[in-house]
Amino acid sequence: KTVYVLNGPNLNLLGTREPAVYGAHTLADVEQMCIEACARHGFALRFHQSNHEGALVDWIHEAGRLQAAGELAGVVLNAGAYTHTSVALLDAIKGTGVALIELHISNVHARESFRHHSYISAAAKAVMCGFGVKGYGLAIDGLAGL
Ligand code: DQA
Repeated sequence: KTVYVLNGPNLNLLGTREPAVYGAHTLADVEQMCIEACARHGFALRFHQSNHEGALVDWIHEAGRLQAAGELAGVVLNAGAYTHTSVALLDAIKGTGVALIELHISNVHARESFRHHSYISAAAKAVMCGFGVKGYGLAIDGLAGL
């Protein structure tokens, strides 16, 4: 089965972006961690990042087609700031029914109040936040147990 790991806006800047909040690892490091986590479970990996909301919607639809064919293990989505704004992402998750884990590197609940509400959570199987970039591997382990 396949795991989709989808990253939203500004996550291409990991490593240099607010390192006190997001750490020193780059998105390439995160991809390597995901490759290793998927290998532990025999999953194939599709790893993507985009700064564009519609690209994320399209990848969720692609994952939905795999799920309909019984070939999807699940989606790990770090929607970045779209978490707090995007009804379109919520509708894509609901419309496809993909098994999805919402992920945040930082503990959004310990930060500004505008980060406390997520449009994604209502349609997510689980939420992972505050474990730093290690959360990606943990989320893939979690998908294996769902
Ligand atoms: C984030 C948290 C969001 O509030 C923020 O807009 C991000 C990253 C995280 O991984 O901690 O871009 O999703």
